Amino acid sequence: MLDGDASTIRKLLEVIVKAQIRNTLLIGDDYRIVLHISARSAILSFFQGLSRGRGVPMALVQDYICASVPHAIEQAGAIIHCYPLGKTLVPDEKELDSLIEENSPDVVLFSPIFGAQGEAYDRQIKKWSEADGGPIIVLDQAQFMGPLSCRPEAVILSFHNKSIDSMNGGALLLHQSFHGCKPPPSRDIGINKEFYLAILFRSLRKGRSKVGEVNEVVQPGFAYDDSQYFPDKIENAKMPLVSMLIIIAEMMKLEHYLEIRRYNFQKLRQRIEKIPGAHIVLTENVDTAARFPIRFDDDDSLSQVTRSLAEVGIRVGRPYSRYDDPSSSSRPGLYSVANPFHRIGP
Ligand SMILES: Cc1ncc(COP(=O)(O)O)c(C=O)c1O
Repeated sequence: MLDGDASTIRKLLEVIVKAQIRNTLLIGDDYRIVLHISARSAILSFFQGLSRGRGVPMALVQDYICASVPHAIEQAGAIIHCYPLGKTLVPDEKELDSLIEENSPDVVLFSPIFGAQGEAYDRQIKKWSEADGGPIIVLDQAQFMGPLSCRPEAVILSFHNKSIDSMNGGALLLHQSFHGCKPPPSRDIGINKEFYLAILFRSLRKGRSKVGEVNEVVQPGFAYDDSQYFPDKIENAKMPLVSMLIIIAEMMKLEHYLEIRRYNFQKLRQRIEKIPGAHIVLTENVDTAARFPIRFDDDDSLSQVTRSLAEVGIRVGRPYSRYDDPSSSSRPGLYSVANPFHRIGP
């Protein structure tokens, strides 16, 4: 393929993906969109692009999150302080307010996880977005894809198998009125890696676990994303062409996936509620979350739920580790259950 052809195809696909994002988030032309290979890549480039007048930027980040997020921030040379989440995984408002007032962070990152997005989050985001001279607000909505009900300075999206059945991809959205970030140009991954991604995608789909197969015994320890290998490695790279094709097809199924997840959630809930000592954490949008949170009173309830969900091919995931210590977690009892893209059995 001639280089000129590839860049024409890229431009065409980018127009379609960006239009899908605008239609899904209902943002009109409020944001400039930069497409990335992953959300972690978008986060990296945001922090790399923060105005140099800030010296070493400091970001407040929630204390329970996939390690790839703080790793991307640190890789850009920024400093992290953590704020706690409350019981339903929304930031503890008092703690966050006083941390912002005491530390004057450059950026506050809001990252709703496990269906926690909703009114309680929006209220805090709005409050700080509208505060005069307050921090830059970044909404990392990697774990959900839907209308944007507030207008923070920046928004992060992920297409990594959470809201749609795709393999990778991310986006950085910068509000048109925000001029404090000039992201550096992203790298093109090249044709060899495009082929590699296409093959990887095919084998991932083939390798799906079968219903009834116990596919994950929950081992002690915590989930730690070390971002070691391509395409999960943290680097400032463009969204691959293969990923754009997959995303374009998958974004059309977004509504359908939400319906399936609501159905699955009820089925899974019935199974879980039969087991004493297992408690689903009812976040605001728990029924459509890609993974929903669950706590266990003891090892026995964990193992019963793991076996019951394995009967319908569903996995229980380990708690996130701390980003700076894979052997510990800020919430060692908080597991998660994957809600798949297909209707589960009875
Ligand atoms: C809240 C949150 N933000 C960002 C990311 C990183 O997304 P990606 O895998 O697209 O880099 C994750 C990963 O799971 C996440 O949970």
